[in-house]
Amino acid sequence: MTILITGGAGFIGSNFVLDWLAQSDEPIVNLDKLTYAGNLENLASLQGDARYVFKQGDLGDRALVDCLLAEYRPRAVLHFAAESHVDRSIHGPEDFIQTNIVGTFRLLEAIRAYWSKLPEAEKTAFRFLHVSTDEVYGTLSKEDRPFAETNPYAPNSPYSASKAASDHLVRAWHHTYGLPVLTTNCSNNYGPYHFPEKLIPLMIVNALAGKSLPVYGDGMQIRDWLYVKDHCSAIRRVLEAGVIGETYNVGGWNEKPNIEIVHRVCELLDELCPKANGNSYKAQITHVVDRPGHDRRYAIDAHKIERELSWKPAETFETGIRKTVQWYLDNPEWVRHVQSGAYRDWVNLHYTEEVVA
Ligand code: NAD
Ligand code: DAU
Repeated sequence: MTILITGGAGFIGSNFVLDWLAQSDEPIVNLDKLTYAGNLENLASLQGDARYVFKQGDLGDRALVDCLLAEYRPRAVLHFAAESHVDRSIHGPEDFIQTNIVGTFRLLEAIRAYWSKLPEAEKTAFRFLHVSTDEVYGTLSKEDRPFAETNPYAPNSPYSASKAASDHLVRAWHHTYGLPVLTTNCSNNYGPYHFPEKLIPLMIVNALAGKSLPVYGDGMQIRDWLYVKDHCSAIRRVLEAGVIGETYNVGGWNEKPNIEIVHRVCELLDELCPKANGNSYKAQITHVVDRPGHDRRYAIDAHKIERELSWKPAETFETGIRKTVQWYLDNPEWVRHVQSGAYRDWVNLHYTEEVVA
């Protein structure tokens, strides 16, 4: 038996591949385009491992996906690949439409053709697991209840709208064609191999480089944080026991305002890597102009996955953030390598004088 994963060289995908092979001998085929966010260095420890196959390519390349499905005959496809950064989607939505919507459509069509011709037992056992986000539900006010699976979709950014569209396609391919799908909608992840365009790794690498720590607006926007390995364990559990056609919200009940996250990162750095002059990294915090259309609060109601699949996160925010900060301190080479030309171009484009308040 084999599973196929898209986007396995990204942040969550690479953590998933590493965890999968640490716990199972079932081979895994990783299809990844290697955009700026894909990094084979994350998976360097798997070199020579016969259980792991990497194929570079676009999930929207029908001929390639057809070949992979025919050659490896996966019992499941786990779809992680996406353009994933909200700020990039605001600067340039085109890639988000192409990969997240058109790419998912093409992938679904390739899988439908493969799945429909499988022998009956394999057809029944097959699963397509779509990895999605809590952002499809829109934004919450302070008083609102956390997002349940029954919340209506109300995406606000080009990124979340493209993910919402992909969720709808997955749902329709189940409803219309009977494709055995599962969907997960997870809150904000953090942990090893997180690309430093996102809040937590950006704050860590900027702090260590003596740069400013750009907090959008008042920094009181709330996110619900989950350690990436806990997201991976939730996906494994949904794959194993999820009910076909169902969606599962995944979160760790860890709502925090951004400014509190930035303070905690600074405090951990003050402890683990104190500055020679004794100053706190907090002195580098600067408030900059807010993200357009910035969602104020996300929060996940994780009761369904806890109750029906007995899943629970292993890390608290305190244990997870400490591990994360330590990982970045232990891996300066990884950080140096991802800070390539493409990364520098993004930082220059986005964090210009105009966005500074
Ligand atoms: P990421 O940006 O770190 O990685 C995306 C990966 O997909 C990269 O390896 C990239 O090369 C690959 N990719 C992009 N376009 C592709 C294409 N057309 N064909 C093949 N590969 C392509 O993203 P991530 O943070 O690891 O997120 C993975 C998934 O989880 C996404 O679907 C995202 O929407 C979802 N998600 C992320 C979070 C989070 O906090 N990061 C939370 C909930 C859900
Ligand atoms: O909720 C799940 C989503 O979480 C995923 O679907 C997305 O793929 C993932 O990128 C993430 O989206 P966010 O927009 O919440 O993550 P980001 O790390 O970009 O920002 C987190 C919060 O921090 C958000 O309120 C914006 C703020 N922020 C971000 C950056 C990069 C800042 O204040 N300053 C920054 O420089």
